[in-house]
Order: sequence, then C-alpha cells, then structure tokens
Amino acid sequence: MSADVLSLFDRSLARTRYSESITQLDHALQCAGLAVEAGADDALVAAALLHDIGHLLTVPDAVTGHRPIDDRVHESVGAVHLSRGFGAEVTRPVALHVAAKRYLCAVDDGYAASLSPASVHSLALQGGPMTPSQCAAFRSDPAAEAAVALRRWDDLAKVPGAEVAPLESYAALLDRLERPARRR
Ligand SMILES: [Fe+2]
Repeated sequence: MSADVLSLFDRSLARTRYSESITQLDHALQCAGLAVEAGADDALVAAALLHDIGHLLTVPDAVTGHRPIDDRVHESVGAVHLSRGFGAEVTRPVALHVAAKRYLCAVDDGYAASLSPASVHSLALQGGPMTPSQCAAFRSDPAAEAAVALRRWDDLAKVPGAEVAPLESYAALLDRLERPARRR
C-alpha cells in the first residue's frame, strides 16, 4: 500500500500545477514538511503528505479535460483509498481537511482573509463557512484538532521553489503506519 500510494505521485498529474504556482507533488511535500517542523506525530505527517491524494486517483478526460473526481469530493475519495492500508489516525484528518477549512472560516476571523484566491473560490463550491451547529458537530470529531492543524499547513504549503525533503524520505514512515492486517 505504501509503495502504491507513493507511486501515485509518479503520475504526470502530480507534476502539473496544484492550483496556483506549484505542483501537486511540491504541495504535498511542503505540507508534510510543515507537519514535521511542527512536531506532528507520524500519522499526521502521513495525512499531511497524502491529504490531496484524491486528486491523483484519476486523470482528466482526454477529450473534455474534466476529471471524474471533482474537487468537492476529493477528500473522501482520498480517505477511502487510504483506508485500504491505513487507520483512522491517517484517514480521518484527510477526510476532514475540507471541512476544517469551512470550520476555520466560521470561527477564525483572520482565517478567511488569509486564503489564497483559489481557496476562496473552492470554499464557495465546498459549501461556505460552517453554521454554528455544523461547527459543534465538527468539534465533536476526535480528529477535529488534527484536521485543523493539517488545514493550516495545507494553506501554507503553496510556496514556489520552497526546499522540501524528497518523497522517498517518507517511505519508511508510511511503512510503519501501514496496518499489518491489511498488508497484501
Ligand atoms: Fe492541499
């Protein structure tokens, strides 16, 4: 599973633009690097590295250019894929990283103002800021705190040319996290 996941970054899609000025791969590596710098545990580092893997699970249609998996579901597609080999400590923050953005927009006045133009655009597609009852439900999730931390790294991981550790440097960490019962 770990090797399969890392190989997704070999797809040409991973080397194309993430949304603004960096590639999907650079975005993932910067996000994971920020998690490492913050002292996150292995599971959250893995979640940071793999949080947008849903975007890499398909390729655009050759004729229309449309992707079968659209942005509004990439977090759940990624989490379901990762659940084949990893536990909830990895998959749940991935599943919640879009919800965490909607949560932060509702509870942190400065947060919405700090979003990149692409992130503001996707917020509208994702449902906008959470309502108070949605915020309460989000906070009740055991992975809420991890998802919020991941979200903040996600937003920062868009620096053109930033130095990052190579993808291969995360292979051992992913191997350690892989659920033995799920190894193939
Ligand atoms: Fe991201």
